[in-house]
Amino acid sequence: MSVIPEIAISSAKLPKKGTLVVLCDDKAKMSASASEGALGKTLKSAIAAADFKGSFGQTLRVMVPQGTDLDDVTVVGTGKQSDMNEQSWLKLGGKIAAAVSSSAKYAVALELAGKDGNPTARQVADVAQGIQLGAYRFDKYKVDKAVKPKHKSIKVTLIAKAAAAAKKVWAEQQGVTNGVMLARDLVNEPANVLTPKEFAKRASELKKLGCKVEILDEKAMKALKMGALLGVSRGSRNPPRMAIIEWKGGKPKEKPVAFVGKGVTFDTGGISLKPAGGMEDMKGDMGGAAAVTGLMHALAARKAKANVVGVIGLVENMPDGDAQRPGDIVTSMSGQTIEVINTDAEGRLVLADALWHTNKKFKPKFMINLATLTGAVLVALGNHHAGLFSNDDELSEQLSEAGAATAEKVWRLPVGPEYDKMIDSKFADMKNTGGRYAGSITAAQFLQRYVGDTPWAHLDVAGTAMGSPQTEINKSWASGFGVRLLDRLVADNYEK
Ligand code: BES
Ligand code: MN
Ligand code: ZN
Repeated sequence: MSVIPEIAISSAKLPKKGTLVVLCDDKAKMSASASEGALGKTLKSAIAAADFKGSFGQTLRVMVPQGTDLDDVTVVGTGKQSDMNEQSWLKLGGKIAAAVSSSAKYAVALELAGKDGNPTARQVADVAQGIQLGAYRFDKYKVDKAVKPKHKSIKVTLIAKAAAAAKKVWAEQQGVTNGVMLARDLVNEPANVLTPKEFAKRASELKKLGCKVEILDEKAMKALKMGALLGVSRGSRNPPRMAIIEWKGGKPKEKPVAFVGKGVTFDTGGISLKPAGGMEDMKGDMGGAAAVTGLMHALAARKAKANVVGVIGLVENMPDGDAQRPGDIVTSMSGQTIEVINTDAEGRLVLADALWHTNKKFKPKFMINLATLTGAVLVALGNHHAGLFSNDDELSEQLSEAGAATAEKVWRLPVGPEYDKMIDSKFADMKNTGGRYAGSITAAQFLQRYVGDTPWAHLDVAGTAMGSPQTEINKSWASGFGVRLLDRLVADNYEK
């Protein structure tokens, strides 16, 4: 596996030996400590000689700086300091990880020239998170010697004025970062390894962080009459599971907030079989469940002061002699019946029972579900926003704000009675597809029939959880989308 750099934070002076990273703005200005003495002299002449502009993320590597005992110094540009926003320090971390990826040990001087040259504790922690997320690769199945990592471990020291406070923030943010990487690992993992049972086992590991985890097997779900979820699973040799993860960090009697995830470990489409091209991507059809699992990890690891439940429905959608057919009618746990028009619209069937069960069991303050639910959301929004559908303006607003703050962006699309009518069925209470148009909205309408009056939001992450754009902090197919977003939503609105 890729080596994730270990982070230390210190307020010591710049080291005199080894590998060093310093920052430089768009005016070729560095901090006072990077500008003084022999170091400053060599760096300034190297910057001038290379015509280095200090634009954001630009790097210049200076080997064995003259007059110092340093091995090498990498200058990283920040661009104009006043242009730096909430994301800049995070991205800068990613740039740093890429620039010095061959070093086993390095120090980063987090300081710029000028009066606002010292990053806040939060910004220092953002750099740390950016370094780790930027370094993440899923390469555990590349056993060829050529891709073996150069070093067994990488140690990074961030040198910053705000070190004492930054250490505290980072201690929490390490948990969130690990949550993102857990979500990425789950999504990247192939479906022959990550079956519903194996996923449930990995979710059970959250017990180590103080979560309560309950796993429902097929028998338990039959007893609960989860006919919609079980219908999807019928064609698979891998039995279904549901994992119910609780984190109780809030007041003992306070109602929890709930997150529900679609965990289709592989989606062939079932009898309504998908075409072969690109079907391998459907190993990621559990991206919603992965985000919920990663989020629960994040919240528990940083001991969030909130009561939170995470529920994930885990099934494999396969064609088989025993698989459900188009035209079949199943009865969901709610009692509502569903005519299965297309067995490839399976995610909503899984979520129908997961949402109903969550609502009934926990009476949560709100439910947010995440699902790689429709190809149509990619048509509407591409890879850059998750589709947001909700019955609650306040929750939607909170999600939009958390999205802007974390750059895990959401875009609200409508729900309403006109769309709801599109899933009325000739033979049952509803059908599982709504026809050619507004495919993401009719999918959301279907889910809404299982949430009652509880404030609810559905995030369609089909375009953002996997195969999304490569950024400074994501060089992996699986992005871990949703973990930072929802961690921020909880932190900003539901703690204390
Ligand atoms: N898992 C897919 C949606 C999907 C597509 C996720 C592309 C990620 C990338 C989902 O189960 C599905 O097959 N949806 C169908 C619904 C249709 C049959 C109404 C779709 O989008 O085509
Ligand atoms: Mn499908
Ligand atoms: Zn699916």
